Amino acid sequence: MFKKYNYLKFSISFLLIALFFLNTNAQKQRWDVPADKKAKNSYIKFDNASSKDGEAIYTKNCLSCHGNPGKGNSMKTLKPIPPDLYSSLTQELTDGELFYIISVGRLVMPAFKDILSEEDRWKLISYVRSGNKKYVQVLSKTDPNKSKLVKIKLDFDSLTNKIKVIANAAEKTGIIPLKDAEVSLFAKRYFGKLQIEKTIRTNSEGIVIFNFPKDLPGDKAGLVDLSVKINDEVYGEIEFQNKLKVGIPTDKPSLTEKRAIWNVLKKAPIWLIITYTSLVFLVGFVLLFIVKNLMKLRKLGNN
Ligand code: HEC
Repeated sequence: MFKKYNYLKFSISFLLIALFFLNTNAQKQRWDVPADKKAKNSYIKFDNASSKDGEAIYTKNCLSCHGNPGKGNSMKTLKPIPPDLYSSLTQELTDGELFYIISVGRLVMPAFKDILSEEDRWKLISYVRSGNKKYVQVLSKTDPNKSKLVKIKLDFDSLTNKIKVIANAAEKTGIIPLKDAEVSLFAKRYFGKLQIEKTIRTNSEGIVIFNFPKDLPGDKAGLVDLSVKINDEVYGEIEFQNKLKVGIPTDKPSLTEKRAIWNVLKKAPIWLIITYTSLVFLVGFVLLFIVKNLMKLRKLGNN
């Protein structure tokens, strides 16, 4: 009886383990793309011209692994095997997902965001879509060249401790406020950035107002490094940096001002410099001593 029970327990655990592995291996791991990236669309129209440009970029950068799309001749020795980009599984991905995958990569699949321009990456997708007759493009209204037209102004009201961000675009037709754009405000700290409040959308005049904390330490003069990030449907992503007197003046030396072991060579602690230099000399002397004695030995041998 006891034996039978043990046998049963063993079989059940074995089955559970087997099921676990079967389950994780059965479905190929798809891509986990953040929602806002998934919904991103191309500002470049997918037509014959862009697809042709894309094909040339593909031949240079992707063909060796993925093979000719539609031909199933990708590099089979790689693991995972690079998918045929005309395959239905790949075509199910949104343009934003494709853009994200090509930009960021995963393990064997390289990241191309520093290798190919945004324009080139969209042209690649134009080529990848050219093999899909059912595909209908949704064009983005964003034009990255337009981000250069945006001017951002920061105003601080010391009475209410509020920071006003004003975003305008200097179009040929005149100054146009950025309406309904997402604005995030950050203050630079020692390690990274601190977001002030939440991301807020601009009003019809292109203005948002943040309540700035009253107790944030600044430098000696109370200056704080601020950065503003704006995301607008038409003008795209814009970053703006400025120093404003919004913090509490603080005389604490910064982490990199004093001599410390984490600082650059010029600001290393004296004791470290002395110890290090003496060690270098010591080793040098020992080496010289050894060489000298070796020469002595050779002389003796010659005699
Ligand atoms: C070094 C080989 C290699 C190169 C070069 C390469 N890829 Fe990949 N790619 C892979 C592999 C491997 C995968 C599968 C990765 C995974 O699933 O984790 C992949 C996955 C992808 C996917 C996701 C497809 C899907 O259905 O999951 C896309 C899209 C893609 N690559 C596009 C490109 C493009 C466009 C280029 C050229 C700019 C390129 N790749 C260059 C190896 C490569």
